Amino acid sequence: MSIERVFVAGAGLMGHGIAQVHAAAGKHVTLYEPELERATAGRERVAGNLARAVEKGRLKAEERKSALARIEPTDDLTLVAAADLVVEAVFEDLEVKRGLWRDLDAAAPVRSIFASNTSSISIDRLAEAVGPGRRSQFVGMHFFSPVPVMPLVELIRGSATDDATEEAIRALAGELGKQVIVSRDRPGFLVNRILIPFLGEAMRAFEEGTGTAEDIDAGARVGLNHPMGPLELADFIGLDVCLGIMKVLHDGLEREPFAPPKVLEDLVAAGHLGQKTGRGFYTYPRER
Ligand code: CAA
Repeated sequence: MSIERVFVAGAGLMGHGIAQVHAAAGKHVTLYEPELERATAGRERVAGNLARAVEKGRLKAEERKSALARIEPTDDLTLVAAADLVVEAVFEDLEVKRGLWRDLDAAAPVRSIFASNTSSISIDRLAEAVGPGRRSQFVGMHFFSPVPVMPLVELIRGSATDDATEEAIRALAGELGKQVIVSRDRPGFLVNRILIPFLGEAMRAFEEGTGTAEDIDAGARVGLNHPMGPLELADFIGLDVCLGIMKVLHDGLEREPFAPPKVLEDLVAAGHLGQKTGRGFYTYPRER
């Protein structure tokens, strides 16, 4: 099945990037938020990203214009009636996501594939929100931040996901220029299962005073050739997001490396969520 019309639910950090890569690949995108201003703000973020790409000579001004024209911000959920694919990228909360999927299932055509960008919530538990007939078309489509830059899609197969759905997502990811890896529906899937204990261990080393945040991060950047150190990456992802994923991993796998460090719990409790709040392991804008 060819995917031409995509309904993206959620226009935040992940949702606007997901809208951008689909529009850039020639898809018509409906960008949904319950409040129209937020959907419009998501499209504005895309406009800013694409303006930078034009400045850098990576994109022609006409390509930017036509990509933006393919993104329609809306607060009208019933527009999902035209969607070949729905990508959900809303807050990582099981009940929030399930409520939205229930509404989308009622309004979407039978052919629509349903893909969640969840970073750790079980695909089977999300798929319980839709009718039994849709579950074979329910899949995880996990993008990485910043979405326009990171060339990976982690495809998560739930127990009911069928081969045709996997094939359609693989073909689409190819059109987006993304490589696909496939994970079973296990806590943290593949990438966060690898990443999160690494971030957690860096936080524990910081908490114990083994080294400064700067030295922990330089260790990973300079010694391991990572583009960002673990503490700055955690700030970039969002400390609340990291904590949420750690809890899912710890509850599901019950192993110590997945336990949330106290420093992380304390920062989140204090409202210091990383770059987005101006403070996490570092304060922003950062002095170098
Ligand atoms: N949106 C769009 N493009 C962006 C961007 C953004 N937010 N941030 C950077 N870019 C682009 C820049 O425009 C630039 O493009 P060109 O090379 O074409 O000029 C390119 O990325 C590099 O940017 P910079 O030169 O400004 O900065 P950099 O070299 O330090 O790279 C980075 C920035 C790409 C973010 C890099 O530091 C990096 O790869 N960091 C690691 C990111 C990562 O690990 N992401 C995964 C997080 S885990 C996740 O998302 C999943 C989850 O479930 C938690």
